[in-house]
Amino acid sequence: MSNTSVPAVINVDLEGPVINRHVYGHFAEHLGRCIYGGFYVGEDSDIPNEGGIRLDVVEALRALDIPNLRWPGGCFADEYHWMDGIGPKDERPSMINTHWGGVEENNHFGTHEFMALCELLGTEPYISGNVGSGTVREMSEWVEYLTRDGDSPMVRLRKANGRQEPWRVKFWGLGNETWGCGGNMSAGHYADEARRYATYCRDYGDNKLYRIAAGAADFSYDWTETLMKQLSHLGCQRAERPLYQAVSVHYYTIAGTWQDKGSATEFDTDEYYETMVKAARTDELLTGHSNVMDCYDEQKTIGIVLDEWGTWWNVEPGTNPGFLYQQNTLRDALVASLHFDIFHRHADRLVMANIAQTVNVLQAMILTDPDSGALVLTPTYHVFEMNKGHQDASSLRVDTPDGLPSREVGSTRLDTVSVSASRKDGRLLVSLSNLDADEDVDVEFDLRGGSVGEVSSRILTAGALQEHNAPDAPEAVAPRVHEEVSLADGRLRVHVPAHSFVTVEGTIA
Ligand code: AHR
Repeated sequence: MSNTSVPAVINVDLEGPVINRHVYGHFAEHLGRCIYGGFYVGEDSDIPNEGGIRLDVVEALRALDIPNLRWPGGCFADEYHWMDGIGPKDERPSMINTHWGGVEENNHFGTHEFMALCELLGTEPYISGNVGSGTVREMSEWVEYLTRDGDSPMVRLRKANGRQEPWRVKFWGLGNETWGCGGNMSAGHYADEARRYATYCRDYGDNKLYRIAAGAADFSYDWTETLMKQLSHLGCQRAERPLYQAVSVHYYTIAGTWQDKGSATEFDTDEYYETMVKAARTDELLTGHSNVMDCYDEQKTIGIVLDEWGTWWNVEPGTNPGFLYQQNTLRDALVASLHFDIFHRHADRLVMANIAQTVNVLQAMILTDPDSGALVLTPTYHVFEMNKGHQDASSLRVDTPDGLPSREVGSTRLDTVSVSASRKDGRLLVSLSNLDADEDVDVEFDLRGGSVGEVSSRILTAGALQEHNAPDAPEAVAPRVHEEVSLADGRLRVHVPAHSFVTVEGTIA
């Protein structure tokens, strides 16, 4: 056991805001091998599939209880014309995926295939509509095609393509990165567009859309301010409810520069700490955007949707630079666990977050081999699985009266221990990350307001931060039972080794 000991207090009876399950959301873009080769292999593939959708991928993701899946982009969304992706596959027109490698997109994975994927996963669809190069009519008709019942031109078209019943679609994105790849608009111009598009994305029957305006990059608070200002001018006063229900923001963890983001697997300890400092800034990001929103929406009725987050490294050597394929190490897992603690603390405003991206792109859960088809679960996958009990749980405040251990990284200080906790259905879940590369720590919880029992614990760690999983070593970084936990007289002691992620579960009486 180490000498570093951190006292912490949790009042298990003082429930904070509910952690929206949608902060464990996902993102699948027509980019590299995320859709084709990742989720979708086509009906003729030797890989077991249903309607072309890989069943091993579905099975692995079902274990995560993923709450929603954002599609078809990303930058691709603002070039995507949904009508090209319906009807007989051999009659669907092709296009060039100009953003991502200039490859040909044959539109074989379209609306019906995406909705079938969501049904297989048991997840909610989040559709990102085309504002950049589409039309209001096109988006409006997509909503009608998907969600309208009865009889109408789009309903007849849907039925002709084999789907009688409307689907339920709640989450609807009004464009993506409209300050950049989604149209290079100014904030003021986009705010007008968002209102216009939102107007014609109708609610059909009891299908109520949750419209998400395309938000800021990183710390561009002025973008959020413009969206909020415009929203309160008209929508709130005249309509039954605001024209859009949330604004998005994107923030990637990049340790180097956009030109040279560093290797996913070959990095030193300095780069590791720099990564953690960047990831920790997500707290500042959410606080900043939320503060701006508070000026216009004190009651927090408009949500923040962080619909792209995660690590972004240089692509794996020898792979297409436009495919954004990267390895995933224990470092990525700790970036994820740190993000989740921050998300839990922002449960009052953060309604959704989507890691970029689920399969074979950026900080993926699953990597598939392009030749053998072998599937590997990444260290990040395991963080999602170990933390899934926080979905829809009440957040619990964790107080650390003596502060947290920290270290100097360049000109900033990094807290090297991160903790969050929640309760649901009489169960306590505590997540702990020790970000220190070398020092172990003991966290000693004083659990008040309830009697906690039957604790069990798991740990995700490895000999080195660079370790990752591969087809010949699929469990190099995988959760194991953690024994170094003790509970006596309401005091829970958890030993958290250097560079590790630990979860502790227990009953509350
Ligand atoms: O996730 C990859 C890309 O990053 C998305 O397409 C875009 O929205 C963002 O810039």
